[in-house]
Amino acid sequence: MSRPHDKKKKGASPADAATEALADALQPGQSVELLKELHILTREGRLNQDSRRKLKQVQHLYQFIEKLLAELPEQGAHATVADHGAGKSYLGFILYDLFLRHRSDAWAYGIETREELVQRSQELAQRLGFERMRFLPLSVAESTQSEALPARIDMVTALHACDTATDDAIAFGLAKKARFMVLVPCCQAEVAASLRQHKALALARTPLAELWRHPLHTREVGSQLTNVLRCLYLEAQGYQVTVTELVGWEHSMKNELIIARHTGQRKASAAQRLQALLGEFGLESLAQSRFPL
Ligand SMILES: C[S@@+](CC[C@H](N)C(=O)[O-])C[C@H]1O[C@@H](n2cnc3c(N)ncnc32)[C@H](O)[C@@H]1O
Repeated sequence: MSRPHDKKKKGASPADAATEALADALQPGQSVELLKELHILTREGRLNQDSRRKLKQVQHLYQFIEKLLAELPEQGAHATVADHGAGKSYLGFILYDLFLRHRSDAWAYGIETREELVQRSQELAQRLGFERMRFLPLSVAESTQSEALPARIDMVTALHACDTATDDAIAFGLAKKARFMVLVPCCQAEVAASLRQHKALALARTPLAELWRHPLHTREVGSQLTNVLRCLYLEAQGYQVTVTELVGWEHSMKNELIIARHTGQRKASAAQRLQALLGEFGLESLAQSRFPL
């Protein structure tokens, strides 16, 4: 496979600005063929403005993930990764190319409901000889029960998995005893719908309900609250949680990166806060379905 960094070393002309830009954008050893197949690079191997952004986004996320994957052997773990709501599997392929293919104990699974995307990713993995990649035409919720997946998965990723698919990914991670969960949530409608339903009651009860009185605010508060509840839930289930911004995601408003690391120390205070918040916002119905403790 050709590698732009090799080209650079062999003395490609410094005047070739496009080649230089490409070499800067790529990680050492990154496959140009793969990026062409993913349409991140043109057939001529050039980056256009759009593809540059897309590449930057995934590479940025990769930098967070790489550090976590490197910790797995210290923990006596393999490197089994399940990517939920995989779409075209940009993340899975780039992870495999840069990291997982160098580890003989590594496996990458892409979970995606759209069969045509699953089919395409499977064919691409075969063409590239990425032997330890599998793609399953399943919903995240179904995948938890699927026998095509191992009982244990070391890392769960969910990048803009729609709506409650992020919650299902968390449930999957808990069932598979994941060491890490790396989540960039997408839009979320479930909590907002519940807030909307009980709005009149909430407004009569507390001035805080002004925070979600207007429909736009209902959506925003619903989304924010969902992620807060997810973090508390993860802490209550024995994970240490970091919330940060996924910089480099300029074209998306969904820019929150939640990284959960398993410690095994279940925080009782987080469980209490979770219950209290659910009560305060009239979301008790979600306690069993989304946040069973
Ligand atoms: C916004 S795309 C993100 C794709 C990819 N992760 C990325 O960032 O490029 C969300 C993907 O999740 C898939 N999806 C939505 N709900 C799902 C579910 N419950 N289970 C599995 N896949 C789901 C959709 O079909 C879509 O391909």
